[in-house]
Amino acid sequence: MFNYLLPCKTPFLFYSLFCYLFLLLNAPFPAFAVNTSNGNQTDRLALLAMKAEIIHDPSGVMKSWNDSVHFCNWEGVTCGVPEQRVTTLNLSSHGLAGSLSVYIGNLSFLSRLNLELNHFHGEIPQEVGRLSRLRYLNLTNNSFSGEIPSNLSARSNLIWLRLGFNNLIGSSPHQLGSLQKLERVQLHYNNLTSPLPESLGNLSSARSLSLAVNSLEGTIPDTLGRLKNLEFLGLGLNKVSGMVPPSIYNLSSMKMLTFPYNQLHGSLPSDSAFTLPNLQVLNIGHNQFSGFLPESLSHATNLVELDINGSNFTGKVNIDFGGSPSLLWLVLASNFLGTQESGDLHFFDFLTRCRNLQVLDLSDNQFGGKLPNSMSNLSTRLVTLRLSSNQLSGSIPTGIENFVNLTELTIAKNNLSGTISASIGNLRMLRRLDMSENEFSGHIPSSPANITQLYSFHLEKNNFTGSIP
Ligand SMILES: *[C@@H]1O[C@H](CO)[C@@H](O)[C@H](O)[C@H]1NC(C)=O
Ligand SMILES: *[C@@H]1O[C@H](CO)[C@@H](O)[C@H](O)[C@H]1NC(C)=O
Ligand SMILES: *[C@@H]1O[C@H](CO)[C@@H](O)[C@H](O)[C@H]1NC(C)=O
Ligand SMILES: *[C@@H]1O[C@H](CO)[C@@H](O)[C@H](O)[C@H]1NC(C)=O
Ligand SMILES: *[C@@H]1O[C@H](CO)[C@@H](O)[C@H](O)[C@H]1NC(C)=O
Ligand SMILES: *[C@@H]1O[C@H](CO)[C@@H](O)[C@H](O)[C@H]1NC(C)=O
Ligand SMILES: *[C@@H]1O[C@H](CO)[C@@H](O)[C@H](O)[C@H]1NC(C)=O
Ligand SMILES: *[C@@H]1O[C@H](CO)[C@@H](O)[C@H](O)[C@H]1NC(C)=O
Ligand SMILES: *[C@@H]1O[C@H](CO)[C@@H](O)[C@H](O)[C@H]1NC(C)=O
Ligand SMILES: *[C@@H]1O[C@H](CO)[C@@H](O)[C@H](O)[C@H]1NC(C)=O
Ligand SMILES: *[C@@H]1O[C@H](CO)[C@@H](O)[C@H](O)[C@H]1NC(C)=O
Ligand SMILES: *[C@@H]1O[C@H](CO)[C@@H](O)[C@H](O)[C@H]1NC(C)=O
Repeated sequence: MFNYLLPCKTPFLFYSLFCYLFLLLNAPFPAFAVNTSNGNQTDRLALLAMKAEIIHDPSGVMKSWNDSVHFCNWEGVTCGVPEQRVTTLNLSSHGLAGSLSVYIGNLSFLSRLNLELNHFHGEIPQEVGRLSRLRYLNLTNNSFSGEIPSNLSARSNLIWLRLGFNNLIGSSPHQLGSLQKLERVQLHYNNLTSPLPESLGNLSSARSLSLAVNSLEGTIPDTLGRLKNLEFLGLGLNKVSGMVPPSIYNLSSMKMLTFPYNQLHGSLPSDSAFTLPNLQVLNIGHNQFSGFLPESLSHATNLVELDINGSNFTGKVNIDFGGSPSLLWLVLASNFLGTQESGDLHFFDFLTRCRNLQVLDLSDNQFGGKLPNSMSNLSTRLVTLRLSSNQLSGSIPTGIENFVNLTELTIAKNNLSGTISASIGNLRMLRRLDMSENEFSGHIPSSPANITQLYSFHLEKNNFTGSIP
């Protein structure tokens, strides 16, 4: 705590007393070794007090925090000219453990604080709320506990607030509404519990709101539809319920809309009301959404991921995915999609234009009809192809051996028939192959024996003849 008094420990009693007195009064002390006219003692003392609370410093970064150099040259410290006051403190990724000193509040010129990727514990001191020039607060990936300091809401210059991956509790988000300049709020992976406050709609500069993996409750406030700059809304793995306000689906700036694993229901607005031209990711799985998938998703030309796994969507898929050449991940599994009749997979014709597609999961739906021939023209980058538990019939189109990157092919529990071509042995990356519970017939080819990685291989409940190779 009083480390900063150490330099006063000299054999000369009167000098020492004089020295202590001066330091305690926090006055400049010209005879003293540290150049006090160059910078501010308050900052130096605050930094030393912070150093004193660090109990583990594996990379030895704190060694440079000594009086043989001016504190503006200490590692991680940046001062502003000409005031020589600390403006940036960046101690990220040093494996530091300890608590954050209340003296932090004395670094009154501090504009950027980055302590991310360390092991700081204890509460974030209220004194952080005194830093009126603070613009970037990065405390991600530590072990901070307790509540977010309530007076942080007075820090109207804040642009970034990154407190994710900590152990924060309480109901803090509702105080944030007054921070008009806030662009990025990242509070994910904590244990925040409050309902989502209406006041979030006042964050008029917000571009990214990441609140996933907490215990947030209540409904998504309608006011979020006012955030015209919002590009990312992440609410996954919370306890959010009710309907999503339609205004959210009208934010033309929105790139990533993700709220899987909540208790949301209702349907997506149809077509003209669903206008997200910049959408890249729509991940809303594991809720209870119902109704049709809007055809206007065809206009999402930057779409990379569409995941509606485990909802109650119904009807035919009428989306022209050809307009989304970047599509990588299409998971429509565990819904009630399809009509159980032919033509349900017509959208494969469009999908063939998605040359980056890696994951296609349509399992556990009501898709009927034959596997279209266009299936063999799907991207050869496919890694996962799941069609199990539908009502698909007919045979496997030729060309399936083109999918050399496939690690999983599951088409079980359909009405597929015909023989299995030996060319299936070309799928050398396969780890999982499940064709069980269909009506395949003929001989079982021996070629899969050449797939060295294969660890799960199911062909049972078919009409195969002959012996098992
Ligand atoms: C203290 O800093 C000032 C300004 O940087 C400089 O002019 C002066 O020479 C320094 N004094 C000592 C004793 O280092
Ligand atoms: C140092 O900064 C503090 C807080 O801003 C201020 O009160 C004090 O007067 C400054 N001291 C010097 C020597 O500039
Ligand atoms: C003080 O810090 C400097 C670098 O800033 C370093 O070279 C020196 O070894 C440090 N002194 C001690 C005693 O650790
Ligand atoms: C912060 O410090 C870390 C570790 O020294 C460094 O890798 C990173 O580039 C710094 N960040 C900034 C914004 O200066
Ligand atoms: C700095 O902060 C501490 C704790 O918040 C306080 O006790 C002290 O008086 C402050 N001022 C100076 C000049 O160190
Ligand atoms: C905060 O963290 C992000 C992500 O690691 C980094 O890009 C940014 O530069 C950091 N901000 C500051 C002020 O260090
Ligand atoms: C942050 O912490 C989480 C969980 O503690 C971990 O999964 C993640 O990889 C960490 N991030 C980084 C960049 O190390
Ligand atoms: C989150 O908080 C609740 C209640 O405050 C508690 O029961 C739960 O264990 C906490 N979860 C974690 C992961 O800390
Ligand atoms: C969704 O489907 C499940 C299973 O069929 C059903 O129990 C649930 O009531 C449905 N929910 C809605 C909102 O339709
Ligand atoms: C298989 O995947 C790799 C890595 O994604 C890719 O570079 C390669 O082109 C793919 N092979 C084919 C035939 O598409
Ligand atoms: C396995 O591969 C080798 C060489 O690629 C080939 O000669 C052999 O016939 C294959 N075995 C089966 C069972 O397909
Ligand atoms: C498959 O076998 C079952 C009974 O073993 C039979 O009823 C059915 O007609 C057969 N299907 C085909 C396509 O051969």
